[in-house]
Amino acid sequence: MIIGGPSSQLLGGRVAKVLNEDLALCEYSSFPDGEAYTQVCSYLDDEIVVIHSTPSDRDIIQLLQLLDVLRGRRIDLVIPYFGYARQDKQFKPGEPLSARAMAVAIDAFLAEGSRIYTVNIHDRSVLKNFSHEAEDLDAAPLLADEVGRMGLDDPVIISPDEGAVRMAKVAATRLGIDYDYLEKTRHSGTEVSMAPKEIDARGRDVVILDDMIATGGTMAQAISILKSNGAKRVYLGSVHPVLTGNAVLKLCRAGVESIITTDTLEKAVSTVSVARLIAEAVRP
Ligand code: R5P
Repeated sequence: MIIGGPSSQLLGGRVAKVLNEDLALCEYSSFPDGEAYTQVCSYLDDEIVVIHSTPSDRDIIQLLQLLDVLRGRRIDLVIPYFGYARQDKQFKPGEPLSARAMAVAIDAFLAEGSRIYTVNIHDRSVLKNFSHEAEDLDAAPLLADEVGRMGLDDPVIISPDEGAVRMAKVAATRLGIDYDYLEKTRHSGTEVSMAPKEIDARGRDVVILDDMIATGGTMAQAISILKSNGAKRVYLGSVHPVLTGNAVLKLCRAGVESIITTDTLEKAVSTVSVARLIAEAVRP
């Protein structure tokens, strides 16, 4: 039985369809004071897969509520987008490792034999905080397949920084095309420039690939740089469309051709589904 959390109802439904398993009916609403109300209305099966992304604090509460309903049971828990994963280090004294705090809180609810899955978590080291088996699934090949269907002209895949180059490499290798990353060069105390490390993007279609788009600042800057380097058309590919505030406006103003993301978060641009990837991982 699949339980689709409030932020992953469509993805939960898609996974249930791929696996031909029941999709539990749940109620997600609020008490009059605004506190979250969660109820699993269906009779629980022996084998349960919970799928729920945690982009907001409320989603984290609702996840804990679901886990409390399922306490004592061995479950597969899929957190496609794991919120707070970027706070995995102490940058200033007195700061928490919020990613660890999340993992520890979730872990406490899980019975022996339970498994945890994430999708392109910001840093896989976060998974070491779970005492249960934890695996990060890679959606880069799915994004690559979508890029392959787009009929691009002499395409190249570029990550906006060295940290995301692994994704660019996976996608480009699958398509048999070039990849690179944007390298920062400091010319003086105040002057910094960025450009593709090795590849000349002039006249070529470029797909910028990153794990997530949050405020859109990183991608908007990358689009501008590649356009001023003579790229023909610039597309964005990303696993997690967090897209806060005016992110989409920034990307459109920067001249993006189109944005492709997965449904780890359910937004208008979530056209590539990770349902099969998840289904294959949890399939008994
Ligand atoms: C950073 O390490 C991440 O991979 C993303 O590049 C970053 O989180 C994107 O954030 P924003 O859209 O706010 O620039």
